[in-house]
Amino acid sequence: MRHALRWCATLLALVAAEPPCYATREARVAPVRGAWVARVERQSSYRNLSCPLEWSKYSCVHQGQAARAAAAAGRGFAPAGCALGGAWRPRGNGTRVFFWGDSLLRQVFIAMACGLHAAGRVVDAAADWPPCGAAEWPCHGAARCVRCGPGSGFFGATVTLATGAELRTVSTDAPGGAVAFFHDVQPDRDVVVVEAGVHGGSPFANAQRVLAAARPLFARSVRVIWVVTPQDAFPSRSGDGRFEPKYLRSHRGGCVKSVAPARSSEEWRALRGDARALDALWGVIDLAGLEDQGDAKVGAGLAGGDCQHYCMPGPPDVLAAALDAMLAALPA
Ligand SMILES: *[C@@H]1O[C@H](CO)[C@@H](O)[C@H](O)[C@H]1NC(C)=O
Ligand SMILES: *[C@@H]1O[C@H](CO)[C@@H](O)[C@H](O)[C@H]1NC(C)=O
Repeated sequence: MRHALRWCATLLALVAAEPPCYATREARVAPVRGAWVARVERQSSYRNLSCPLEWSKYSCVHQGQAARAAAAAGRGFAPAGCALGGAWRPRGNGTRVFFWGDSLLRQVFIAMACGLHAAGRVVDAAADWPPCGAAEWPCHGAARCVRCGPGSGFFGATVTLATGAELRTVSTDAPGGAVAFFHDVQPDRDVVVVEAGVHGGSPFANAQRVLAAARPLFARSVRVIWVVTPQDAFPSRSGDGRFEPKYLRSHRGGCVKSVAPARSSEEWRALRGDARALDALWGVIDLAGLEDQGDAKVGAGLAGGDCQHYCMPGPPDVLAAALDAMLAALPA
């Protein structure tokens, strides 16, 4: 035990001394290599709806899934040769980070906002929670689900930091589409974080569609960061973890821990096939081995279990740390 602790302390010291990830252009447009680790003593900055932007559908502890919640909250990523997170200081008043994607990117937004909130850096957090009595957020059978108001769910949210900077979600899965925000983006100060998402066609087609949609941003030299869509973890006939309703009806029983990295390899194929777009991106966020973290998915609610979203806190906080490092690499 003592030996293990000493080993841990040494590892932490080594990690602290590492240079930041994404320090070079090559590093910014490549997956980060490293290992996912179970860090038992990791302190999460939020828990059981303590953060004003948390959703009951993602809080496994709120749902009574104590073991799964603890496993997800303790999950960390040790990058090979570099350090992630804790470095970003948003530049002056008015800088905005737009999150343009589906619910998987919204999990990263929530993680980042909740981390900043716990650090006392958030002065306002507004979200379009469905009002009680009028509309309800779909619960899909999740235990102790909050159906309306804070804790339920949202498409759009804006978080204002003490510096005047803002984080905003602009959801591609919201009714009515999302590119209307483009005219509002100021290339000299704003950043757009984009994710192809799981809705629509194949991972390759989704990525191509989103790259095409982002062209007006590239044309205006807006800084765009691509987040590779986190891998689904459903039991699937092909082993790619993708949602297959027909197959799932006959194969009930939890999320798959490891699946083929079908989404990331297809998104990379689309990115590498469009050299101009890849060139125009500020960076791409992809952590090696995320496809092996299926046991940190919510796994409850939804027919066959929610094997798309992670328990929070959990891997979205690790992705938020990667995003933090990517934002910190922006020129001052
Ligand atoms: C989570 O919070 C609820 C109140 O909202 C409480 O009833 C429940 O016991 C808490 N769960 C844990 C594991 O702390
Ligand atoms: C940011 O700018 C707005 C309007 O320009 C101003 O009202 C606000 O006080 C500023 N905030 C900070 C922290 O400087």
